[in-house]
Amino acid sequence: MNAALDRIAKHGRCYKDPIAAIDWRSADAERPWLPRGLLLGHESQVPIRADQFIALSRAEYARLCAAGLWLEGLLINRVTASGLLDVDTEEARVMLQEIREETGHSLMFLEMIDRAGHDDRPRLEGTRLLTAIAKRLHIETAEFWAMVFIGETVTDTFAKKALKLADSSDDAICPVAEQVLALHHREEARHIAAARQFLAARISKMNRHRRWIFARTLHWLLNLFLEATMYPSLESLYRAGVTDADILFHRLRRDPWRQKVAVACATPAVSLLTREGLMSAVQLAQREA
Ligand SMILES: [Fe+2]
Ligand SMILES: [Fe+2]
Repeated sequence: MNAALDRIAKHGRCYKDPIAAIDWRSADAERPWLPRGLLLGHESQVPIRADQFIALSRAEYARLCAAGLWLEGLLINRVTASGLLDVDTEEARVMLQEIREETGHSLMFLEMIDRAGHDDRPRLEGTRLLTAIAKRLHIETAEFWAMVFIGETVTDTFAKKALKLADSSDDAICPVAEQVLALHHREEARHIAAARQFLAARISKMNRHRRWIFARTLHWLLNLFLEATMYPSLESLYRAGVTDADILFHRLRRDPWRQKVAVACATPAVSLLTREGLMSAVQLAQREA
């Protein structure tokens, strides 16, 4: 018996539908959906009016929700495709709890995308190759859970930073946006702990050759993932009605603050995977240079 997995299953036993848990009436149209200190940094030179910043924050939030839908959809796809045939009962229970919660999160994210005023879901750019790779991975492999661990920790670290800043009165955000982030963060903490357990149980089955190949591809995959999820697409800025969307789009891609946030969001995953020998320290040094 795996005591950690047992604890995770106990905490996941009760389920509450996120749509029912969020107080949707507490929405405040005067507040942004993500803190300025996170999206632009407090020292930002990007000139942007308050109403334009609200539009930008909604576009970025909707993009975060679209990233959640993508990742959660892939997780559900891979777990259900396995039929849970080669998974023991303890692991199957935690995986099914996770699917139950991810479905609720995705419904909550769709609701937020609707409320952001987008006529359709924002498209994430640069996800095609990552989707194709993820769909080839099986839940019995360490590679799959390493990818899940990256997806969940990067997005959750971003949410944690947003919640911390939103706590201060200078950077307060719309209460609904905050509740959605907080609910997701609470449940993701358990998912991340589970991904670590699933990864640890499978890593010893990787031979040196497989590890070597994966360690060399993972850094490249991580960069693709950060490009796809940490920056708004031009299309999403247009749809949000941000003026000079193309200028802002290029500015955000080159913004040292945004790049710093992306690296900081990747750091927890990089540290664990380096410790596990699935990423090399050389690659980490190159990223930070
Ligand atoms: Fe989720
Ligand atoms: Fe999750």
